[in-house]
Amino acid sequence: MLPKATNLAAAGTGLADSSRSDTPLVVKELDTATATAEFVSLLTEELPAHYDEVDETFATNLFRVSGMDADPDGYFTLRKKVFVGLLGDRPVGFTVATFKRGGSVKIGPTAVFRQFRRRRLASFLRDEVERRLFAGGTRKLYVTIANSNTPALMFNLGREFRVEGLLRSQYRLGRDELVLGKFAHSVATDVETLLQSSGHPTSASVSRDLERPAERDSDGAGMVTSVWADPDVGEVRRYLEPVLETYIAGLDASFYSHMVAACAPERQHYHRKGKSLIATRSVTGAVQAIAVFVPKRGGAAKLSPLVANSETALRLLIQSCGAHARGADRHKLYAHVPMEMRLTAQVLQEEGFGLEAQLREPYKPGADVLVFGAELD
Ligand SMILES: CC(C)(COP(=O)(O)OP(=O)(O)OC[C@H]1O[C@@H](n2cnc3c(N)ncnc32)[C@H](O)[C@@H]1OP(=O)(O)O)[C@@H](O)C(=O)NCCC(=O)NCCS
Repeated sequence: MLPKATNLAAAGTGLADSSRSDTPLVVKELDTATATAEFVSLLTEELPAHYDEVDETFATNLFRVSGMDADPDGYFTLRKKVFVGLLGDRPVGFTVATFKRGGSVKIGPTAVFRQFRRRRLASFLRDEVERRLFAGGTRKLYVTIANSNTPALMFNLGREFRVEGLLRSQYRLGRDELVLGKFAHSVATDVETLLQSSGHPTSASVSRDLERPAERDSDGAGMVTSVWADPDVGEVRRYLEPVLETYIAGLDASFYSHMVAACAPERQHYHRKGKSLIATRSVTGAVQAIAVFVPKRGGAAKLSPLVANSETALRLLIQSCGAHARGADRHKLYAHVPMEMRLTAQVLQEEGFGLEAQLREPYKPGADVLVFGAELD
């Protein structure tokens, strides 16, 4: 048996954070350089077994951003916190909480030094961190785990996380990634009741938005799709917001300014979360569709958000994004699509994408998001 926390505290750890008395670990937010170098080595050693393109920049950036008031490079991400587990003065492991817009938190990676494994230390650490997060108002927790990482999968499934999807070849060609979620309450929000009571557009009205007007849904003649080199934040916001607010809570100006800032040439690295805005325009130059193209470590690329005026514009945009992804040496393209946007789902299916996940209320209560992916040849 491991010693009790109370004994360790009495032994003089001098740590301010309280831990439950039945927990042998003291759990502390990382506020200094505590063991950062050791943690960077641990992650840089463990993760390449499951993921491509994970080098020191991944872990270094993670620890750099944690503790900042806001993630300077995030748009869905608001901020990160690292929680450390200590036995006496000895850090034995850590976990990371990434706070997303709309009240969910991505938890992980969680890692414990090898010599301390299978002694329920990660369990104690996560018990305490999850308790603090839920007490602080977190609505949902989720993790993503390589299908090849049996210890991490068994660990999280044993903690009441439930499978929401399997992202194919997500961070390595031929290696799938599971998404697991856990809610503050045992049942997820009732979608229809919430949409109706909050006055937000229902499924039908969002679908109508996409199936909008014949006069705007021409045969595509003259429409051009290209990377929007210097996007205007106001124009991007005016175009995207009516659709985005149906499935993302807590949108504000910073969401769009961070998104546009990530398109700058000097940001085109994984650790700076570089993105491109790809737009389809009519002959008059009016925007007909927008996708934010996000290259991911391991060779995939994400389209999120993906919004269009019409089926024709949407189809052209998806095809151009496919070509763009191939040109950028991506082996997979995937898109996040709110459940209500049935036409987008249908067009993606027709363009060769398959359903990989149903993310339950990731960015807003009552609004599930589907993930459609396609491997590129
Ligand atoms: C996953 C990890 C954090 C678990 O840490 P740990 O302190 O050993 O976990 P615990 O002792 O609290 O295990 C709790 C339960 O999880 C499951 N589990 C943990 N390790 C397991 C393993 N190697 N194989 C199967 N199940 C395992 C078991 O059900 C275990 O309960 P049990 O020991 O009573 O059978 C640890 O293996 C690790 O650091 N791995 C490397 C980093 C990593 O890959 N993290 C995930 C990246 S997303």
